[in-house]
Amino acid sequence: MKKTLRLLLLIKNFIPPKKRVLWLAIPVFCILINCSHPYQQGERLYAVNCERCHGNDGEGFENLYPSLVKSGFIQNYSPSLACVISHGSHYLQSRQDKNSTGGMPENPHLSAIEVLNIVNFLHHKFETGFTEKLTTVESSLKNCEH
Ligand code: HEC
Repeated sequence: MKKTLRLLLLIKNFIPPKKRVLWLAIPVFCILINCSHPYQQGERLYAVNCERCHGNDGEGFENLYPSLVKSGFIQNYSPSLACVISHGSHYLQSRQDKNSTGGMPENPHLSAIEVLNIVNFLHHKFETGFTEKLTTVESSLKNCEH
């Protein structure tokens, strides 16, 4: 932020005084309407908590880590995705319909909002057209069997 400000002050000198206001209005406007994309926190949390196994693009790794690209939890939309993220294989093992191989850690440090942000980042990344709500994540997390 400080660097950006310093850069702006420097650039300012090269802009004719009459046009300065206009040029300064652009970055201010950008900050106001939040030009950075809304999935940034989810993207960052994915990088820290998921990427090392599921890969940068969710491609997975051989038989060890499943690809997320075709995961039913994402492609078919499932409110249980929050449970997978929060409880990992403990949750997957509790499901009758899943042949759990184990090996996914739980993430008790993630708050409901952080789980929500990861879920929405994944739906955005894989262009499913779904958007999850905080209330759904909260009630899913209360009812995960694990
Ligand atoms: C240490 C490696 C590892 C990390 C880190 C990890 N996973 Fe997994 N993940 C796995 C493994 C292994 C499975 C299969 C687990 C099973 O069957 O019990 C899995 C399964 C899944 C599934 C279910 C796939 C399906 O359709 O069956 C989803 C969704 C998923 N992970 C998402 C995530 C997300 C999101 C994160 C980050 C919050 C994450 N994982 C972090 C290893 C990991």
